[in-house]
Amino acid sequence: MFPTVHPTATKAWQQLQQHAADMKKTQMRSLFAADPQRFQSFSLQFEEILFDYSKNLLNAQSLQLLQDLAKECKLEEAIKAMFRGEKINATEQRAVLHTALRNVSGQPVLLDGRDVMPEVNAVLKQMEDCCNRVHKGEWKGFSGKRIRYIVNIGIGGSDLGPVMVTEALRPYWVPGIQTYFVSNVDGTHIAETLKKVTADETLFLIASKTFTTQETMTNAHSARTWFLENGGSEKDIALHFAALSTNEKAVKEFGIDTKNMFAFWDWVGGRYSLWSAIGLSIALTIGYRNFHELLAGAHATDEHFRNTPFEKNIPVIMALIGIWYGNFFDAASEAILPYDQYMHRFAAYFQQGNMESNGKNVDRNGKPVDVQTGPVVWGEPGTNGQHAFYQLIHQGTKVIPCDFIAPAISHNPLGDHHPKLLSNFFAQTEALMNGKTAEEVKAEGTAEELVPFKVFTGNRPTNSFLLKKITPRSLGSLIALYEHKIFVQGVIWNIYSFDQWGVELGKQLANKILPELKDDAAVSSHDTSTNGLINAYKKWRG
Ligand code: F6P
Repeated sequence: MFPTVHPTATKAWQQLQQHAADMKKTQMRSLFAADPQRFQSFSLQFEEILFDYSKNLLNAQSLQLLQDLAKECKLEEAIKAMFRGEKINATEQRAVLHTALRNVSGQPVLLDGRDVMPEVNAVLKQMEDCCNRVHKGEWKGFSGKRIRYIVNIGIGGSDLGPVMVTEALRPYWVPGIQTYFVSNVDGTHIAETLKKVTADETLFLIASKTFTTQETMTNAHSARTWFLENGGSEKDIALHFAALSTNEKAVKEFGIDTKNMFAFWDWVGGRYSLWSAIGLSIALTIGYRNFHELLAGAHATDEHFRNTPFEKNIPVIMALIGIWYGNFFDAASEAILPYDQYMHRFAAYFQQGNMESNGKNVDRNGKPVDVQTGPVVWGEPGTNGQHAFYQLIHQGTKVIPCDFIAPAISHNPLGDHHPKLLSNFFAQTEALMNGKTAEEVKAEGTAEELVPFKVFTGNRPTNSFLLKKITPRSLGSLIALYEHKIFVQGVIWNIYSFDQWGVELGKQLANKILPELKDDAAVSSHDTSTNGLINAYKKWRG
């Protein structure tokens, strides 16, 4: 295990505090004016992804100090420990090896001295066979018709990744296959989905690492009941239900034939599981070859991450920039703004990825942290966001570092839509950086009393990710960049990024409250607010 280091006790942290005070007096536009090479110096290209981080309030010294911080916090050792399969998720005594799931190199990955790749590859083969059978029409439902509908039932990491990726890669959908995702325990979600499918043409994928999650199991049982009420019999369940899980016993108990079980392992975190059997809905939707490309893209990023010096290492730089603003400029949130309609769930995906990983207030020694940890992550696609919340990003009182993401080539080159979309992408990052001074506003002939309202302070930080095109490979690479960013930040903050104890308390209380909702008796066992709400609900529901 790599050593635990208090980030605030490092020399670099002290120096960064000093340096940040100086940088706060600097205008980004003057950094550009002073250095014609700024874009070249502060951008990196990885395959067909251009990462431009020049529109940040930092200079060479800032980056040097941030890298020093990473070194003092033993990042090199931590990266090695993760890839070596050490149990870096110590509170659950688990390794963190989602990188093995996309290890297309043919090289072994050892866990407790044993190569996990034969098992990983066997499940991938099982997934490939399943895709072939479904896509060729060989997997037939109980009426003899081929499978046309995939319904993935899962939540959190067993839903968000597959939803995000299948949406982002809609142009790659296999003709004749329609995929739906059900996550919410609100009955509306499954009820509305079941209206769109037929029992004899549907393959339900019950996606749950634990196979105990309340929402997923409730939806799975409702799907099963509906299936039996709509022409399917008990023996037909084997044709229409598959399980994506680590829990063989619970899968059997549900009644799913274990030959329809696609396994994964406890060393795959839920929010890092789209690369595992949880990705079966992705493979069935975009085809196995494209799923493999997604894995290959992520693997390429893994190699970049583990082998590239920090100053050219994109996830490391992304992480350090986040730390720069979060810890030295009091930025509490980060926006992810894809200028690509297909990427509309990307921010939601990394909301879980980031916030469930780094939303921690206790360090690796079990002591309260003395630094700000994970940011609030949010975002919507451009240009819609421009007409909703960009006002605050431009002129509000909060520092909100933004990631702008766009493809140079659209899958829908319709008229001049794409140049218009990208002109907005370029314009926003320029406007956020430059702002507009009072003199510039006045020079436009603005009435004196309106000048203060039309001033933009600028200096608002952005990263730009320009991809040549959103393809399975480039998307895989991009997702892995963000994953490793989260890892790096967790190491520097000295927190455990791969557990999620914070989601337990609400679950426990919901389990306690559920039986109290059965009858009409007034409850008094909670605080007065909770009692009041429960009792009002009981009155109204009749
Ligand atoms: O919300 C907590 C959580 O455990 C997530 O980490 C996970 O992705 C989700 O629930 C679903 O868990 P499972 O795949 O076990 O159903």
